[in-house]
Amino acid sequence: MFIAANWKMNLNKKSILNFSKQLKKFKFSNKVQTCIFPPMTYVDYLNELISKLPISVGGQNCHYKSSGAFTGEVSPKFLIDIGCEYVIIGHSERRTLNNEDNNEIKLRAQSAIDCNLKVILCVGESQNDRVKGLAREFVEKQLLQCLPNNFENCYIAYEPIWSIGTGLIPTKNEINEMHKNIKEFIFKTTNIETKVLYGGSVNKININDILDISNVDGVLVGGSSLEVKDFLAIYTAAVKHLVKSE
Ligand code: 13P
Repeated sequence: MFIAANWKMNLNKKSILNFSKQLKKFKFSNKVQTCIFPPMTYVDYLNELISKLPISVGGQNCHYKSSGAFTGEVSPKFLIDIGCEYVIIGHSERRTLNNEDNNEIKLRAQSAIDCNLKVILCVGESQNDRVKGLAREFVEKQLLQCLPNNFENCYIAYEPIWSIGTGLIPTKNEINEMHKNIKEFIFKTTNIETKVLYGGSVNKININDILDISNVDGVLVGGSSLEVKDFLAIYTAAVKHLVKSE
């Protein structure tokens, strides 16, 4: 079970310090893995603040080259250097706002894996594709074109674009079907068993329903991970879910 918090371009030094103080008062379980993805400028800072807690930190993206004349980019080696375990690659906001296509995403993911980062590779369809019944086909194409080699220990995050930040969520059945299909597709093409996180409008209210879905292995949370109380409520729900299913 994995709870991942994508802070996107939010919070600052002061709010991160406050967040970490609350985390330090909380009793974490060793059953649920968790990773926070702060803005790049604060990854190192957060990592130092929570170094004694069982929480990983990760980058929200990285470049496909490990060094060179790439102004404004972040090397996967830098992420390793400052203690990152994970990196998110192919988030739909990178795809749409920064024109990262499947080809580039595959290069970025491969480079991250080659540097020993664990990748969370994001996929997900638009509302238009969902309505037209093309969601599965769209996601399969993304997987086919983005999946790097040696994807063991990595995750897929299924994040339907229309669900991100909107409060709209696919039905339980739709999530289960998509996750099942992603797992089967990856197994068929690479022989690797992959874990799949769900992302899109996850919050402390709907988390129980989402974790009840059999092919969901965790969640990638955006907005609801910005308040420490909400983040910890989601984390606690994951721990209770595991205890219940034991
Ligand atoms: P929200 O949880 O704010 O919908 O964002 C989801 C997301 O994009 C996580 O990467």
